[in-house]
Amino acid sequence: MRKKIVAGNWKMHKNAEQTEDLLNELIAKIPTETKAQVIVAPTFVNLASAVDHLEFTNIDVAAQNVHQAESGAFTGEISADMLKSVGVNIVILGHSERRAIFNETDALIASKVNTALEHDMTVIFCFGEELKDRQSKNHFNVVENQLRDGLFHIEAKDWANVVLAYEPVWAIGTGETASPEQAQEMHEFIRETVRKAFGSDIAEDVSILYGGSVKPENAKEIFSKPDVDGGLIGGAALKADDFVAIVNAI
Ligand code: G3P
Repeated sequence: MRKKIVAGNWKMHKNAEQTEDLLNELIAKIPTETKAQVIVAPTFVNLASAVDHLEFTNIDVAAQNVHQAESGAFTGEISADMLKSVGVNIVILGHSERRAIFNETDALIASKVNTALEHDMTVIFCFGEELKDRQSKNHFNVVENQLRDGLFHIEAKDWANVVLAYEPVWAIGTGETASPEQAQEMHEFIRETVRKAFGSDIAEDVSILYGGSVKPENAKEIFSKPDVDGGLIGGAALKADDFVAIVNAI
């Protein structure tokens, strides 16, 4: 069944004290009954405490990354087993910053997807075109290739643990939000692409989130589109009132 989801990707923000302060604000301000699943993704060092802090709430915790290996000599990395051991069952993969800054290829992302699914984690799979792709009208090809090369190797049964997050790179952190019509057009294309590869049931059931400068003032219109099932929020997730307003916009 397709779910509404609002997830906050905190990126490299908030130390332990700031994380606790923001979580306390969210606990106080997010309604106990929400139309959307609410997820927050603090940094690695704050995941265990966030899981403990949110234990008796309707707010779930996600990691922003995971290494593809089970364990080994990978200084600084975190494994899926480690995330599961502290109660984290959701992971964001393929974010454009991982692709651009940390050189994560489609193949590497595909292997991280495999590891997360093998550990029964839910994957929030991120993808999206760059401005040059859209300007050259190549954005549909880019998005289709990212899906095909990073995700479409999975089995039909695995889609129950997959959430798609379309994040046009030119809209991330820029204030240049995709228009609701642009978001709907691409989300419709994404759902059709999934349908062609995996059939109608999976295409209809998968949640497709929009990410890229979602704010309280634009969330409602973007979320009102038929193929937009929520948002993956960056900057606005770091301010309790803004994130709560976006959650309530679903
Ligand atoms: O993963 C969500 C993020 O990339 C969007 O960032 O600041 O444009 O909401 P922002």
